[in-house]
This record gives sequence, structure tokens and C-alpha cells, in this order.
Amino acid sequence: MQGLQTKTLGRVVRIYDEVDSTQNIAHTLVRQGAIEGTLVIAEQQNAGRGRMGRNWFSPKGKGIWMSLILKPTISMQFTPQLTLLVAVALCRAIQAHIPHQVGIKWPNDLLINGKKISGILLESSAEDERLNYVIAGIGISVNLLAEDYPEELKAKATSLFIEKGQLVDREQLICDFLLQLEVLLELYTQQGFAPIRSLWEALTISLHKPLRIQTAKGWVEGVANAIDEMGALWVTLPNGENIKLYSGDIELLL
Ligand code: BTN
Repeated sequence: MQGLQTKTLGRVVRIYDEVDSTQNIAHTLVRQGAIEGTLVIAEQQNAGRGRMGRNWFSPKGKGIWMSLILKPTISMQFTPQLTLLVAVALCRAIQAHIPHQVGIKWPNDLLINGKKISGILLESSAEDERLNYVIAGIGISVNLLAEDYPEELKAKATSLFIEKGQLVDREQLICDFLLQLEVLLELYTQQGFAPIRSLWEALTISLHKPLRIQTAKGWVEGVANAIDEMGALWVTLPNGENIKLYSGDIELLL
């Protein structure tokens, strides 16, 4: 990739025309010894995976469907921090390509004008609480037209092209994301989670607003107040009780 300015991330790239999921390819490659920063990109996915067991719509040639192999030297309990870090990197990269405000919905969905533009799926392998590797799967709806979306997605999903009215250079956006991520990973290694937490809080649209949370007991309503030092979301329920969420899903009510 011509515009690549990173030292490690994306220095090895595997590009495929059609795959089931770039996550599956990346898992296979890492088991075969692929190095940190190896990037798997596909023009089309036939079984793209989203969070919480959902499908990810990945039509041919219109989006960025990619999986990045990371080998962070952190223990498993810090994975939520990494989730937020990847979201900040992606938000900053996308923001450079569009004048509209891009916001992070906890934990790592990116929204423009209330509609989802991008999603992140982190899958990891660990042994004795130590992470062996993380596969960061990233889907960005770049140049999809409104009519490309199936009916059920039309109200809640959008693309950079729909919002901006101009095609966006996918390769440049990938290079921008990889650079942002490399810089933030270095910052995280040197200074820990505190600066990442501040950046995430500045970019999120999830704090201090009424929301619905999916918990083991079903959906409950509350207000998110903060992200803690582990990357967990603190939510106050109507009865005054505070709960911590490390993963899951929320729905903004306003
Ligand atoms: C979500 O918001 O639910 C996460 C979506 C992640 C989608 C990407 S596309 C590339 C990679 N391969 C997959 O199968 N999923 C991720």
C-alpha cells in the first residue's frame, strides 16, 4: 500500500477477492505463524461476522472488510481497553475523510448522524490469562449506495459516500487507520490506558444520556456516567444502583 507510514502494522498484507470472513483467514494465518501487523483484506465476505453473533453485511468492492493480527503483551483482563483503543484509532482515521462528526457508541461502534458507519469485532486467544493474539476485525461502509442496503439495515446504517456525496479512497483510509492505531498502541505501551480513556471520552456519544442496556437479566434502562480504568462502562440504574459493563450492547434512547 503506497500511502503506508507505519513501522509494523500492515507491512504484510493478504488481499482476497471473496472469503467467508477475514476473521477466519486471520485466525488460520496466525496459527501458521503470521507476524504481528499482518493484515487480511477482502473485497467481499459471504459470512461476515458482527458482534453478539450478528451477521455483517459485506458487499463486493464497496467497503473495507479487514482483519488485523495484533500480539499485545497484556493480560486478558485488559482486552476491554484494547477494544476502546481500536475505536479511537478508527474514529480519528474516518474523521479525516468526512466533515461530519463521527461518534463512538460504546464500546466500539462508529456513528454518523445516528447511523452506523463502522463496526469492530475483537477476537482473541489466551492461555493462563495471557493473550496469545488478538484479531481486530474492522468493517467500514465506505462507498455503499443507499440502494445497496437490505431493507432491515436502511434505517440504521449509512456509508461515507451517502453522508459525504463523494467516493472515498479505501486504501488511503486503511493507511490512515493503521497509522493512528500504531501511534495509539505506542502511547498505550508507554503511558497506559489513561490517555486513551480521555481520547475515547472526548469522542463518545454514549455518556450522560438515557440508554437501554442488554444484561444477562434482559434489557434495562439507565444512564452511563464514565469509563473506568479497566475500560468498563459505569451505568446508574433508575433505582440508584451502579453496574459495570465490560462487553455487551447498549441502545441510546435520545
Ligand atoms: C460489529 O459492529 O458488530 C462488528 C463488525 C465487524 C465486521 C468486520 S468486517 C471484517 C471482519 N471480518 C468479519 O467477519 N467481521 C469483521
